[in-house]
Amino acid sequence: MSNETRKKLPLAVLISGTGRSLKNLIEKIQRNEIDCEIKVVIASSKTARGIQYAEKAVIPIEIVERANYETSEGFSEAVFQECTRYGAEYVVMAGYLKLLHIPDSFRGRVINIHPSLIPSFCGKGFYGHRVHEAALDYGVKVSGCTVHFVDNEYDGGPVILQKVVPVLEDDTPQTLNDRVFYQAECVAYPAALQLLAEGRVSVRGRKVLIAPGMEPVITPPVLPDDLALKTSSTGDDKSEYLQTSIREAPRLF
Ligand code: GRF
Repeated sequence: MSNETRKKLPLAVLISGTGRSLKNLIEKIQRNEIDCEIKVVIASSKTARGIQYAEKAVIPIEIVERANYETSEGFSEAVFQECTRYGAEYVVMAGYLKLLHIPDSFRGRVINIHPSLIPSFCGKGFYGHRVHEAALDYGVKVSGCTVHFVDNEYDGGPVILQKVVPVLEDDTPQTLNDRVFYQAECVAYPAALQLLAEGRVSVRGRKVLIAPGMEPVITPPVLPDDLALKTSSTGDDKSEYLQTSIREAPRLF
């Protein structure tokens, strides 16, 4: 449970697609689990489906489209100008698919989540199901997610938190995606934001140090009814497996 008297960390959340991460963060804020406040949602396209969650939560929305700028630098400047205008201290990439040039004023204040254990299956071209396909093709036994600071390389900045999930023998990219997202990402991203809100995160070179204290208490998400892995090829009820293992998921740190 967050501290009611603590100042809320002001965030800008950047989205490009379905907005599941945005929805999860909004839920954690509404349940008072993290001391954060979303000042603005910036979408890279007006058709980004995640915009609906910002509308429902009455959060200001800005659309900044790459096509309206001649250069990537000009586009990035426009995005960060909006972040400044709304008073965001941290910029949270949530399924955001554009490469940004981070200005000096936001260095060390942009974070992202990637659906693998970096440095595996990351970098240019590794997004969406491609990440999980690569993990399955390689035959890894565990996967997970990585919350990291963003620098000017794809998935390149210092690692804040990682959370691991098992890979099962009959996994498909979809079932692995669902497990990584609901079991790992929905807990690790808000937890990392809460650590930032508590001022417990510092960076020394490539290493992120977390000052001692309570582990943030983040409740697992409610699984959507249409979760694709309700029944596996063998007929097992995998959604039940997923629920169970959320409860039994290892501690974050
Ligand atoms: C997640 O897999 C996350 O790791 C990556 O984008 C996906 C979430 O996108 N950065 P969205 O929130 O559903 O749009």
